[in-house]
Amino acid sequence: MANPELIETFQQAGQSQVFAFYDQLSAESQAQLLAQAAEIDLAEIARLKRDLIDSSEGAAVDLTDLQPAPYESLPDHGGDADRWQEARELGEAALRAGRVALFTVAGGQGTRLGYDGPKGTFPITPVRQATLFQVFAEKVQAAGNRYGATIPWLIMTSHQNHDATVSFFAEHDFFGLTVDQVRFFRQGRMPAVDPDGKIMLASKDAIAMSPDGHGGSLRALDRSGSLDQLEREGVDIISYIQVDNPLVRCIDPAFIGWHLLAGSEMSSKMVPKAYAGEKVGHFCRQRGRAVVVEYSDLPASIQEEVDSATGQLRYLAGSIAIHVLDREFVRRVARGGEGLELPFHLARKKIPTVDAHGEAVKPTEPNGIKFEMFVFDALPFAENPIVIETLRENDFSPVKNASGVDSADSCRADLLRQYARWANAHGAGLSVDDSGLPEVTFEVSPLFGYDEVSFAESWATRSAPITTGKVLS
Ligand code: UTP
Repeated sequence: MANPELIETFQQAGQSQVFAFYDQLSAESQAQLLAQAAEIDLAEIARLKRDLIDSSEGAAVDLTDLQPAPYESLPDHGGDADRWQEARELGEAALRAGRVALFTVAGGQGTRLGYDGPKGTFPITPVRQATLFQVFAEKVQAAGNRYGATIPWLIMTSHQNHDATVSFFAEHDFFGLTVDQVRFFRQGRMPAVDPDGKIMLASKDAIAMSPDGHGGSLRALDRSGSLDQLEREGVDIISYIQVDNPLVRCIDPAFIGWHLLAGSEMSSKMVPKAYAGEKVGHFCRQRGRAVVVEYSDLPASIQEEVDSATGQLRYLAGSIAIHVLDREFVRRVARGGEGLELPFHLARKKIPTVDAHGEAVKPTEPNGIKFEMFVFDALPFAENPIVIETLRENDFSPVKNASGVDSADSCRADLLRQYARWANAHGAGLSVDDSGLPEVTFEVSPLFGYDEVSFAESWATRSAPITTGKVLS
């Protein structure tokens, strides 16, 4: 299938290298390459080259008028216990009314973990080796049972992992959820470019395309028809989580309630930074809007500033990528328009490609640039954005790396600590070390307890003592 017009458009845009091997390809491969090329917005690539690659200003982040963002402290840290209770009740009412959906972004490439397969299929729990997806499925099911509502679960995949993700759920009978309840859709993708802004080939017949970042999730929610479906179902509250964090309270009534109390369009959870140089984004305010400033963009001198009144870091609020989104806010940002577009960020990466003869090249140094959007860049567009405090041990232990910090091992240990805390709060009497890690390796299925409150209710009915290998389910 020839498409001289499209090829010509690429030539005129200085991107003829995309079709350098076109004449050598089979008709099928030609069609595949053309279909990929048709996805690319050449004007956007030219703009990104000009604004991000060529411009030295592209890298500079505006730090004028920056202030730390206010946040709602937990009652144990001086927050208003009555308001937290009010929030919890409001969130529970919203859950009972069926207004809440869970949304998991699972389109990342998981390069640091180096696991072969969609990250959500990674086994994580200490005894059953339940996968990340299973843990969330069980939380959705348990919360749905508790509130007498079906909680829709939206999962964003990428072109690379979509089919494998959907098959995984089918093979596991959707972990007890209904087929209609779990909805998959692909995120958009962007071509990688070389330092001169030339679109790169992954092979003679394929462009080097990669997912457009978790910020692409807002467009993808809209484009996939998911927002319309939620609207028909009366769902207006979207609980946003990342696939690599099984500790998260993904259905958190207090968080949902704060979002509603504030009339917020996009709400966020923060954890107090562990130390000044911790590599997390910072919740800030700037000229009346909420912003997240990444650690790499905030000078050390600012990160180290101390609040003289509290003795704590001034920029204390670390972002952990947990949000509640208003459905219509997502639609507004997804549709974009004047001044309402999520910016792209560039990342220099090693991109497998081909040389001038079409031979495969596996780079050992970054040789190209990927473009990604970040979900937190939607915050400045949100009205009444609220940030609430959470404890790391209740909400955040991501599986990012193959070993060490933020790895499967550290996450499993955090899961064990959480189970032990819940059990010991009810007199289980488990021995734990100084870090709270129990001597026995056991597990709490989310169907038994997915937070302290649901755990406490089930605990009252359990029988045998906790021993190694035990699964409370
Ligand atoms: P990360 O930024 O940790 O990226 O994603 P990653 O792709 O999982 O891992 P690395 O950097 O290659 O090692 C945080 C969350 O955002 C999702 C991921 O699936 C994860 O849940 N994400 C990231 C997407 O859904 N799409 C993307 O394009 C990028």
